[in-house]
Amino acid sequence: MPDTPNKLSFASVSLHWLVGIAMILLLAVGIYMENTETYALYPIHKSFGVLILLLVLPRIFVRIKNGWPTPLAGRQAAEIMLSRVVQWVLILSTVLMPVSGMMMSGFGGHGVSVFGLELVAGNYDPVLEKVVPINGDLAGMAHSAHGILGNVLIVALLLHIAGALKSRFIAKDGTVLRMLGKEV
Ligand code: HEM
Repeated sequence: MPDTPNKLSFASVSLHWLVGIAMILLLAVGIYMENTETYALYPIHKSFGVLILLLVLPRIFVRIKNGWPTPLAGRQAAEIMLSRVVQWVLILSTVLMPVSGMMMSGFGGHGVSVFGLELVAGNYDPVLEKVVPINGDLAGMAHSAHGILGNVLIVALLLHIAGALKSRFIAKDGTVLRMLGKEV
């Protein structure tokens, strides 16, 4: 069923919340594991980080098919523009975060696997007794992109949540209810 200005489809609503919650958890785990050097979390972060693409790709397909939800009446043009920019940053980051993560790990020689299922082999050198990057420059660029995008994503998420709170409690329009699957 397609989205209408008054009611969003089950696919739009469910994929929005599933991807949103998964992204927030991956962000939190990524920051925690890197800052505390909790290496046991790395394979879990990487596995779920790859698996999220199984939700992200259908979500993007649904968005392309349905377009962005129509802004409800009473919104100012500048506000609509800002929320659109934030929505673009969020949706692009759902692709760029997993891709940069996979490039960092793959080119870095660490390999990419999903709960033990190897997608890209690691590059451990038994003579040197260490992981050797396949392409250190690309791995480094992907690493920087993963970190910078993570920070951009946090700002975009905060703006997105602030916008939702403003709609709900200040403008008191139906934007949030519509995102919960209700007819407005
Ligand atoms: C939506 C998916 C993902 C999100 C939101 C995400 C988020 C993050 C964040 C916020 C960090 C901390 C960065 C920093 O503090 O500089 C991080 C670190 C990391 N991520 Fe991801 N990530 C995702 C997917 C992936 C994937 C698919 C992989 C690899 C297959 C991956 C591998 C890593 C690694 C190895 C680190 C630690 C880097 C280090 O120790 O220097 N991530 N991630």
